[in-house]
Amino acid sequence: MNILDKFRLDGKVAIITGASKGIGEAIARAYGQVGAKVVISSRKQEDLDRVAEDFKKEGIEVTAIQAHNGKKEDLESLVRQTIEKYGRLDIVVNNAATNPAFGPVVATEDSAFDKIMEVNLKGAFMLGKVAYPELKKNQGNVINISSVAGIKPDEKTGIYSVSKSGLISLTKVMARDWGADGVRVNAICPGLIKTKMSEALWKNENVFKQIMHFIPMRRMAEPEEMAGLALFLASDAASYCTGGVYVADGGLIV
Ligand SMILES: NC(=O)c1ccc[n+]([C@@H]2O[C@H](COP(=O)([O-])OP(=O)(O)OC[C@H]3O[C@@H](n4cnc5c(N)ncnc54)[C@H](OP(=O)(O)O)[C@@H]3O)[C@@H](O)[C@H]2O)c1
Repeated sequence: MNILDKFRLDGKVAIITGASKGIGEAIARAYGQVGAKVVISSRKQEDLDRVAEDFKKEGIEVTAIQAHNGKKEDLESLVRQTIEKYGRLDIVVNNAATNPAFGPVVATEDSAFDKIMEVNLKGAFMLGKVAYPELKKNQGNVINISSVAGIKPDEKTGIYSVSKSGLISLTKVMARDWGADGVRVNAICPGLIKTKMSEALWKNENVFKQIMHFIPMRRMAEPEEMAGLALFLASDAASYCTGGVYVADGGLIV
C-alpha cells in the first residue's frame, strides 16, 4: 500500500466533540476531506448546523448532534445516534473543553473546579467508556485534545492545567487497558492556537507580546495546524502509536 493511502479514512466514522469552531472544526474538516463520515458535536445546535452546511458544500458527509460534554445521557445519545445513522464508530476525538476560571488556585471557586473537571476530564472518560465496545469491534482509536498546560502549567491557566494533566493520564491508562484489544489512545497537546477559547491570550497586544517571547517560533498557530497531527494519529499511518503524548506548540515547552 502506498504510504499516503494509510492517511485516508475512507469508510471510517468519527465523532469530534467541540467541533462547532476552532480546533475541533478543523480536525472534523480534515477527517471529512480524506473520506471519513464525521459527526460533529457541541452544546449549540445552531452553530453545529452552520458548520455542517459548510462541510456539505465542501462535499463532506456530516451529521450534527448536540451534546453537553458533562452529561452522560447526551454522550450516550451521541454514540447511539452515530451508530444508528452510519452503522459504526471508529474514531473519537475528545476535544470539547471549557475554562471558566483563569488565575491562581486560591481565586478559583469550588464550582469552577467541578465544572472544568466535569467537561474537560470526566467527559472524555464517559465518552470513551460509552464508545469502547464499538471501537473494540472496529479496532478504532481515541484522540484526547489535552494542552501543553497539562505538561507544564503556567499561572494563567490554573485548574484548567490540572484537568489537562488528568487527560494525559487518562490517555495512558486507557491505552494500557485497551491496547490488547487493538484500540489505540493518544493525546495531542496544542500550544497557543488562535481560537475563541484562547482570546484572552492573543487579543491584548501586550499580553500577546509577552507570550511570544516564550515561543521559539514567535507566533501562534491557526486551528488547521492541529489537523495534520490529529489525522496521522487517527489513521492507519499511526498503527503502532498508542499512549503517546504529542506536542504541537511552536517550541513553547522546550
Ligand atoms: N486554543 C488554544 O490555544 C488551545 C491550547 C491548548 C489546548 N486547547 C484545547 O483544544 C480544544 C479545543 O479548543 P479551542 O481552542 O478550539 O476552543 P473553541 O474554539 O473555543 O471551541 C471549543 C468547542 O468546545 C465546545 N464546548 C465548550 N463547552 C462544551 C461543553 N460543555 N460540552 C460540549 N461542547 C462544549 C464549544 O461549543 P459550544 O460552546 O457550542 O458548546 C466549541 O465547539 C480544547 O480541549 C482546548 O482545551 C486549545
